[in-house]
Amino acid sequence: MYRDRLSLFPDTIALRPARNGVPALHVGGCDLNELAAAFDTPLYLYDQATIDSPVEAYQVALSRHYPGPAGITYAGKAGMNLAMARLMAAHGLVVDCTGVGELHIARAAGVPPAQILLHGVNKSHADLQAGLAHAGTIVVDNLPELARIAQLAHARDAMPALWLRVRPGFAVDTHRFRQTGQHDSKFGMDADECVEAVAFCQRHQLPAAGLHFHQGSHFHKAEEVLPALEMVCALIGRLQRERNWWAQALSPGGGWGIAYHEDDLPHQSIERYVATTAAALAESLSSFSLPLPRLQMEPGRSLVARAGVALYRVGTVKRAGSRRWLLLDGGMADNIRPALYHARYSALPVTDPLGRPPVVPNAWLAGPFCESGDLLIEDLPLPEIEMGELLAVPASGAYQLMMASNYNGALRPALTMLRHGNAQLIQRRETVDDLLLRDVV
Ligand code: LLP
Repeated sequence: MYRDRLSLFPDTIALRPARNGVPALHVGGCDLNELAAAFDTPLYLYDQATIDSPVEAYQVALSRHYPGPAGITYAGKAGMNLAMARLMAAHGLVVDCTGVGELHIARAAGVPPAQILLHGVNKSHADLQAGLAHAGTIVVDNLPELARIAQLAHARDAMPALWLRVRPGFAVDTHRFRQTGQHDSKFGMDADECVEAVAFCQRHQLPAAGLHFHQGSHFHKAEEVLPALEMVCALIGRLQRERNWWAQALSPGGGWGIAYHEDDLPHQSIERYVATTAAALAESLSSFSLPLPRLQMEPGRSLVARAGVALYRVGTVKRAGSRRWLLLDGGMADNIRPALYHARYSALPVTDPLGRPPVVPNAWLAGPFCESGDLLIEDLPLPEIEMGELLAVPASGAYQLMMASNYNGALRPALTMLRHGNAQLIQRRETVDDLLLRDVV
C-alpha cells in the first residue's frame, strides 16, 4: 500500500538517508525535511522533471497517432505563475488564460501573443480588449460575445484567430461541478448556434478558424471523448456543406484525469487518451478531401498535478471518539478541493515513510481553520505520527494554489521549483502585510 502511495509522487521521488541516517523522502534531488526547514510550511513544490515528462508524453503521442498538424495548449487555470508560464512557453506550448488576470501573468512572463489563447464563459470588456490586443486565439463562448468582438474589432488591423466553443451535449464522468459538455451547461454553443456564428463571422469578415469543446475535467476513460468528437465532426461536415467553411483547428479541450490516491491506480496513460482522440478524429474526417484540422489538445491537471507535492507540519495529534486526528498547519485555505468536490488525497510521512506499519485507528487529517469541513484527508492508514512531523501530500500541483484563499487570515504558501538538487523559490509565502494591501481606509 505504501509502495503504491509512493508512485503517486513525482518521478524523482526517492528514499535516502537523511543526516541522522533515517530514510527520508527526496524529490528532485532535494531532502523534503531540509526544504521545510528552509522555506517553512505549508510548502508547495514542483518537480520540474515531472512537468517535462507529461509534456513530452503528449508531444510524442500526438506525433505518433495524429497524421495532421498538432499541438498542446496548457490550461493555465491549473497552475499559473511567471515560472510556469515561462516553462510551458519554452516547451512550445500555447498558454490558455482565463480572462485578463491570467493573460497579464502570461504577458509578464514574456509569452508571445501567438502562444496565448483566451478563454472565458462571460468575458468582461477588459477580458475582450486584452484578448484582442495580446492573444493569438480567442475561444468565443456565445453569440452575444461574438457580436461584441465584432464591434471591438472594427478599428483593428490585426485580429486573433477565433475558435467557436461547441457545447457537444455530452459531459464526462466526473464530479458534477466539473462537468461542462452537457446539453444544459452554461458553456459554449449548440450546433445551430455554431452555424449561426460561422455565418456571422463570414458576414463581418471575422477570422473564424476553429472549433473547441471541453466536456469536463478529471475523467479517466479515454473512450469518453468519442460521443462528443462524433458530434463535433458531424458539425464540421455540416459547416462545410451549409457554409462552405472548414475548421483549420480543432481543440477537444482538456480534462484528462490523474491518480490522487492509491485506489485510483492503475491509471490509463496519456498516450492512450491522445491515441483514442487522434484516431477517432482522423477517421471521422477521412471521407473529406480537405486537410485535417490542427489537433490542439488542452490539458492542465495531467501536465502539472503529479509534479506537485504539498508539505505540512503536524501541530497537534488528538483523539476524539474513535478518531485519530492529525491537525496540520494548512488545509482548506490552500486546498479547497476535498471540501468542494470530495476529492480524495493520500499522504506519507517524510521521515521513514515506508518502515513503520500503519496503526489503528486510521488518521483523519485536518487543517487549522474554523470549519469542520476543513478536512484534508479522511480515514487514511498511517503509522503512529508524532507532533512536529512532516507529511507530504502527492498530486498537489493542479488547482490547489489557484483556488487558495486567505480564509481566517491564512497566508498563501510559498512555491518552489526543484531540479537536480536545487530548490528555487518561485512564489514567496504571503505575509501579514499582504493581507492589508487592498484595504484603502
Ligand atoms: N480547457 C477548458 C476549457 C477548461 O475549462 C479546463 C478546466 C481545461 C481545459 C483543463 O482541464 P484539466 O486538464 O486541468 O482537467 N478546479 C477543478 C477543475 C476545474 C477545471 C476547469 N476547467 C479541480 O480542482 O479539479
